[in-house]
Amino acid sequence: VREDSAEVGDYIANYIAKRINEFEPTAEKPFVLGLPTGSSPIPTYQALIKLHKAGELSFKHVVTFNMDEYVGLPQDHPESYHTFMFKHFFSHVDIPPTQVNLLDGNAEDLIGECKAYEEKIKKYGGVELFLGGIGEDGHIAFNEPGSSLASRTRIKTLAYDTILANARFFNNDISAVPRMALTVGVGTVLESKEIVVVVTGLRKSLALSKAIEEGVNHLWTLSALQLHPWALIVVDEDATAEL
Ligand code: GLP
Repeated sequence: VREDSAEVGDYIANYIAKRINEFEPTAEKPFVLGLPTGSSPIPTYQALIKLHKAGELSFKHVVTFNMDEYVGLPQDHPESYHTFMFKHFFSHVDIPPTQVNLLDGNAEDLIGECKAYEEKIKKYGGVELFLGGIGEDGHIAFNEPGSSLASRTRIKTLAYDTILANARFFNNDISAVPRMALTVGVGTVLESKEIVVVVTGLRKSLALSKAIEEGVNHLWTLSALQLHPWALIVVDEDATAEL
């Protein structure tokens, strides 16, 4: 538990920097980092950029895989996760664009796209560290309530609560929020060597308590982290309100 979202961001950024810096990459095995979008990880991205600018961290030997992307939103739409990631992170660090992987929500064959994504992760020997955020309904990536805890990368219909929550990014126009997304599965996240999740703000406090104080439950998919040997949830004071 850290005091506020800025301290959470600093903590996680230092944690990730340490992991990347102690890793010995080879051509076949770069550091594979899973990444989220959302407002919660922004302070982490800012702190990572700061470490990079201070010369303490390089992403030259890092390959990233993003968790999810909307289906049908043009890649250059201001709210696509592709746009988000370049705006908030990739454009500010030294990661070669060829080492950035994002699901293509406009692929002609969406099922094939999901399958190829899983295969590409495997080709790199799996994810070293998956950074995640959660929705108010406790979803990790876009694994909405009811998702199988063994799920893999796939197409997911968004829960109405998620559409409502994300309408704030679409001028509060519910009809503008995409209805579907591509997302890594809970099983995909659980396969990562290490998982770090950022949970900040009062809005997330119920989901946090359900996920860590109750049993493993597919209605609060973050709770699947209880099954993982190396999972860390970094929260601010506000998020602990229901604990
Ligand atoms: C979306 C993303 C999630 C993210 C969530 C939280 O639903 N698919 O991966 O964790 O937003 O967003 P925020 O951090 O803005 O609350």
